[in-house]
Amino acid sequence: MAEDLKIIQAGKKEQYQSILPQIIALLQGETDLIANMANICAALKEQFNFFWVGFYLVKQNELVLGPFQGPVACTRIAKGRGVCGASWEQEKTLIVPDVDAFPGHIACSSLSKSEIVLPIIQNGEVTAVLDVDSSELNQFDEIDAQYLQEIIDLLHF
Ligand code: SME
Repeated sequence: MAEDLKIIQAGKKEQYQSILPQIIALLQGETDLIANMANICAALKEQFNFFWVGFYLVKQNELVLGPFQGPVACTRIAKGRGVCGASWEQEKTLIVPDVDAFPGHIACSSLSKSEIVLPIIQNGEVTAVLDVDSSELNQFDEIDAQYLQEIIDLLHF
């Protein structure tokens, strides 16, 4: 798959419905986790122009920065810290409409205003998280949670 992505202007659900099969095609036949995470970030960034989209991987009981698109970010996050660390600890998707109202939010950039973090759970253990940040308040909801979950379910560890 070496063709350009087809990027559409539409509602959020339609955008996910357009990009999801393209992500499936991008990942097809590729088993390398980092390569697949990298292409997921690029595809989401291109379609939605999110401020920041990336993965953190659990390594020796810390989250360590993985493939991402967007401005430079903090490299290590302890369990329970920030939205990413909280999602890891609680093993659940967290939607934060206003990051300034989230206790302990790690402000990698003051331009990030809202975010969603999904834990990636393999054999009952969180092995990574997907973090998507917006420069606008209140940008994420159950539609993002549903489609981003479908996207991370494509990853094989
Ligand atoms: N917002 C995250 C930190 C990571 S950066 O935003 C890329 C958090 O509080 O977990």
